[in-house]
Amino acid sequence: MEKEIIEERQGEVMNIPSGSVGKKLFLESYGCAMNFADSEIVASILQDAGYVTTQDDSQADVVLLNTCSIRDNAEVRVRKRIEYFNSIKRHKPGMVIGILGCMAERLKSQLLEEEKVVDLVVGPDAYRDLPSLVGQAEDGTRAVNVLLSREETYADVSPIRLNSNGVTAYISIMRGCDNMCSFCVVPFTRGRERSRDPETIVHEAKYLFEQGYREVTLLGQNVDSYRWNLTRDEKKVDAEKAAADFADLLSMVAEVDPLLRVRFSTSHPKDMSDKVLRVMASQENICDYVHLPVQSGNTEVLKRMNRGYSREWYLDRIKAIKTHLPSAGISTDIITGFCGESEDDHKDTLSLLKEVKFHFAYMYTYSERPKTLAERKFEDDIPEETKKRRLAEIIRLQREHSQELNQAMVGETCKVLIEGESKRSTEQFYGRNTENMVVVFDREEYSAGEYVNVHITDCTGGTLIGTIVK
Ligand code: SAH
Ligand code: SF4
Ligand code: F3S
Repeated sequence: MEKEIIEERQGEVMNIPSGSVGKKLFLESYGCAMNFADSEIVASILQDAGYVTTQDDSQADVVLLNTCSIRDNAEVRVRKRIEYFNSIKRHKPGMVIGILGCMAERLKSQLLEEEKVVDLVVGPDAYRDLPSLVGQAEDGTRAVNVLLSREETYADVSPIRLNSNGVTAYISIMRGCDNMCSFCVVPFTRGRERSRDPETIVHEAKYLFEQGYREVTLLGQNVDSYRWNLTRDEKKVDAEKAAADFADLLSMVAEVDPLLRVRFSTSHPKDMSDKVLRVMASQENICDYVHLPVQSGNTEVLKRMNRGYSREWYLDRIKAIKTHLPSAGISTDIITGFCGESEDDHKDTLSLLKEVKFHFAYMYTYSERPKTLAERKFEDDIPEETKKRRLAEIIRLQREHSQELNQAMVGETCKVLIEGESKRSTEQFYGRNTENMVVVFDREEYSAGEYVNVHITDCTGGTLIGTIVK
């Protein structure tokens, strides 16, 4: 994956390395990085139960779609896929079709009523139950498990790396979200926030490093609220050592090996601390890159969004990033056309973009989600054409900034971790610099997983182009 980590990806088929002979599983994932990381847990649990995968859906005995509910169009896409699998199932009546992830959790057994072809509905905290639920469905009984948990982190499940480049991997460090941003469905689909035992996280990072991986991305909806009470494991009386926060965890993972790069996502502006920035600045292998979703540049809109910070607070956090890490890459998420957003509010978002100059942004029009605070309290009153026009203005401005920041790199030399062959040519590699900018260059005698210094000679809007310097 050459782009960003939190990007909503669409229907990628997960290629599980073949294992023992057994029933054939076809697994497809939608949504955010956390969902993709979850699919690696699902693959592990089902492989242990004897399933092998196939990339050919017509061969599948079991089809699982790991779904996303973040915006309406994410769900529409999955409904279309269900229709498609319905057409396959007509010729293969024994095939089991299961819906996992956020849509399963949001719609629960309603999905079985609405989609007659679906046999299985399993929420994100119930994957340990998959072997038995799939078995039940194979015996002809439709099955649902959407119980959310306060403890489940799958800490002991060793993920099977899917579609891996062998260089970069995700590590889930927490699950759920307690923030209740008014537009967001995630607290309903993922349940309460809980952190994972840091020892198991470090262990996973070490294992990945030994397997040849050179970059890990620590994942959580709000990594800054990571917290683990160490006294759970040992009777430590020293208050200083009693709890690990995200900065401590970051430091622990960075100490695994200087050659292992560490990234993380997502930071929350209300919680991102200077302590985290100090740890980032002090450890060379923690990448100088922060994804800090702002959503809107207007304080009143932010209030209605229940984000817990103002425009000024956000800009102060940006200043803190630039103080500790002067050349850091910074990206964001924007929602345009939220309830009650005036033309002036929209201009505040544009002016914030100009003030910060993000390297990259994910930009969306507001999509009302059932049961969220915004759906209950506010009217979705911005006409679709206005939302689209504002989005186009935001995208246009952001493109200029990305281009400008890329252009500024021409003539510089940066350290790049090689991730694999470029999409354009087998003669070229792609990788990223510490600021998370994608760099493409001639491969020469190097291999994926190696670090090289690349002199940047040119750029496009999204990519730096250069040559290796020896
Ligand atoms: N936990 C992260 C983001 C998770 S969802 C955070 O707090 O920033 C990823 C992005 O999807 C959000 O940052 C937001 O920009 C977008 N998003 C979430 N709900 C949305 C909705 N109802 N309509 C449009 N975009 C939405
Ligand atoms: Fe949603 Fe807000 Fe939680 Fe992010 S922090 S997942 S936007 S509720
Ligand atoms: Fe992720 Fe979509 Fe769920 S963004 S947490 S898969 S709603």
